[in-house]
Amino acid sequence: MLNAKMEKALNEQVNKEIYSAYLYLAMSAYCSYRGLAGFARWFKVQYGEETEHAGKIYKYLVEQGARVELEAIEKPPTEFGTPLEMFEKTLAHEQFITRSIRELLEQAVAEKDYATSIFLQWFVAEQVEEEANDNAIIAKLKLAGEDGAALLVVDSELGKRGH
Ligand code: FEO
Repeated sequence: MLNAKMEKALNEQVNKEIYSAYLYLAMSAYCSYRGLAGFARWFKVQYGEETEHAGKIYKYLVEQGARVELEAIEKPPTEFGTPLEMFEKTLAHEQFITRSIRELLEQAVAEKDYATSIFLQWFVAEQVEEEANDNAIIAKLKLAGEDGAALLVVDSELGKRGH
């Protein structure tokens, strides 16, 4: 049983995860259009992961007998700049999601909602991994700099990302 405030906050997190999926799908399309097939694949896989995150929260709400209320999804941008700028935007977005998860956890702890606290542990660990992935790619892109051949090596590497 969730209280009304937690139910609302988790519904908002579903929307944030769906928006993340939408944002990464837009980035994937942008990369495809620019001929960066490996980057496009990486973001397409990330899109899939974000829909799974939304699905996990959705399932938890349903299991708790709560109301699921799906809100409108904000339109993502269509231009993302260079691959480095795109990953800097990705990292900034993930840092926003990390703060959001932390606030949910703080709320759950304050309200002694142990079930939700435990449920959120997975997301805490996932955010550490997501930020680490983005930081590692940003480091490579900084090394590659303006070198087109080096950028294509990174593109090829990202294209190997499995589901
Ligand atoms: Fe679902 Fe990328 O956080």
